[in-house]
Amino acid sequence: MFYPEEIVEEVRTKTDIVDIVSGYVKLQKKGSSYFGLCPFHNEKSPSFSVSPGKQMYYCFGCGAGGNAITFLMEYENYTFPEALKVLADKAGVELPKEEVSKEARAQADLRASLLEINKLAANYFYYQLKHPQGRQGYQYLQNRKLSDDTIRRFGLGFANKTGDDLYRYLREKGYKDGILKETGLVTIEERGTHDKFWNRVMFPIMDVNNRVIGFGGRVMGDGTPKYLNSPETRLFDKSRNLYGLNYAKSTREKHMLVCEGYMDVIAMHQAGFTNAVASLGTAFTLQHASLLKRYTDQVILTYDSDKAGVKAALRAIPILKEAGVSARVLNMQPYKDPDEFIKNLGAEAFRQRIENARNSFLFEIDVLKQDFDLQDPEQKTQFYNGAARKLLEFTEALERDNYIQAVSREYFINYEDLKRLVNSLGSRLGTGGQAARQQTPSYRDRKKEKEDGPRKSQRLLLTWLIEEPGLFDKIEGIITPDDFKEELYHQVAVMVFEGHAKGQVNPAGILNHFINDEEQYKTVASLFHARLKESLTNEERSKAFSETVYKVKKNSLDEASRAAADIGQLQEIIKAQSALKSLHISID
Ligand code: UTP
Ligand code: MN
Repeated sequence: MFYPEEIVEEVRTKTDIVDIVSGYVKLQKKGSSYFGLCPFHNEKSPSFSVSPGKQMYYCFGCGAGGNAITFLMEYENYTFPEALKVLADKAGVELPKEEVSKEARAQADLRASLLEINKLAANYFYYQLKHPQGRQGYQYLQNRKLSDDTIRRFGLGFANKTGDDLYRYLREKGYKDGILKETGLVTIEERGTHDKFWNRVMFPIMDVNNRVIGFGGRVMGDGTPKYLNSPETRLFDKSRNLYGLNYAKSTREKHMLVCEGYMDVIAMHQAGFTNAVASLGTAFTLQHASLLKRYTDQVILTYDSDKAGVKAALRAIPILKEAGVSARVLNMQPYKDPDEFIKNLGAEAFRQRIENARNSFLFEIDVLKQDFDLQDPEQKTQFYNGAARKLLEFTEALERDNYIQAVSREYFINYEDLKRLVNSLGSRLGTGGQAARQQTPSYRDRKKEKEDGPRKSQRLLLTWLIEEPGLFDKIEGIITPDDFKEELYHQVAVMVFEGHAKGQVNPAGILNHFINDEEQYKTVASLFHARLKESLTNEERSKAFSETVYKVKKNSLDEASRAAADIGQLQEIIKAQSALKSLHISID
């Protein structure tokens, strides 16, 4: 963290989250919280809540959660210091420049400089393209049917043949070798200094806020590599950025189009499909999917029609599903990619293909079918078995039945027969189809698994203590932060106990400690928003609370006994273990 904690705290206490969020989201008061439509995913009924008491927001739909600072970080794509600065200005808190550690300031400055240099470079490339030295590049783009408008909109450019002119230009602007190295735009070696990109048409890569974070450069012909890309830098993380999203994010369409390459995005936008983005040759990741999920819950995959494209689609489908995004797959035949398709058949034909895009499950079955020769009875049976096995992936009976119907209709399999096959396969492999999944369990399932047992009771206990500080008295002498054996919960417990001792637990402040790790951040945020059942009688509550305390302590003692260093210690632990058996805490 760049600023001392007291400063961050001061900004935070002088900030009202309701104030900040309502600048972006229309909020309505309901009880002690405010509700609105979540800005981080697409929804029709409000599940996004803002709690003035906790100074936090949480979406019950997509799990996004945090405090005022992280809200700005998420929404505006600000860094921590950027968000803090905005809030400090609003709250009239002056951020002490000197108190910022030198290193931290250097880091922030470095990032800003890198952005500046990228912008200069993009302008430089664009300038070259529009002047005599860039004629070849300009012609190349014209041959590829890009209009001047499109070229300007995507900031396309040209890197000269000279080999070090960009370097010299940037030096003239006052940038030193050290920072230029970090941009990935130049290589500085003993043998000499040269530009990474030369004699290529240039595609600047922008983040959602239109800041240039990297480049791709294409040879104007058949050379290799076809595209040269910026290396990953402080600014450029391929697995977290989608090319074209800066424009696509404002689409009115319900869905987004996901394709493979620069030219595909550009061709689609030029043809009016301004909802197209690309993962740029890298595999589609869960981060990509979560990024999309902020803007849509429907994706149409428009990958290349070749084997690699089909494989990429098969990979992306479950990833999207996991992020809560449904996928359909566009049929590109007989063309290779969106660029070629549109060039040959035009926008209207492409629009029709979008409308007819294949449901992702049926697409998977289509691909499965290609492995079998359906003229051969044995292979045909195998295909049916394969399809039935896949149908078992649907754990919801009604949904499964819908798909059984669809598959029977599409592949001319008798519905009753297929249903029987699915059911008998299901009972052989275990009920409900759960056990039938051959794939490794999904990310969500794994999380659920981990949630079981000790982890869960630790989480529950923390939630109790946060919700009802009065309970601290009840666990005095029984539970300490060290009883939270799960590392993350231990960290939180230390802060919650500390806060309580000082008279106030501060959820939003605690959350700040986890800002650098998205996973941890989410877990901790959800901790502060878990809801305890309100409908319990006092007796039931006492029982539930005692049980939770018991489980946490037992787990802690069990671990201690495994780690005990000598007999004396072990005897202590055993004594505590047997004392624990008679634990009963009553709450009223
Ligand atoms: P493709 O080979 O499908 O190229 O790569 P393309 O998009 O059709 O490009 P054109 O139409 O021939 O110009 C798809 C994407 O994979 C990445 C690029 O992002 C490209 O747009 N790629 C491809 C590279 O990074 N390097 C390469 O050498 C090739
Ligand atoms: Mn292409």
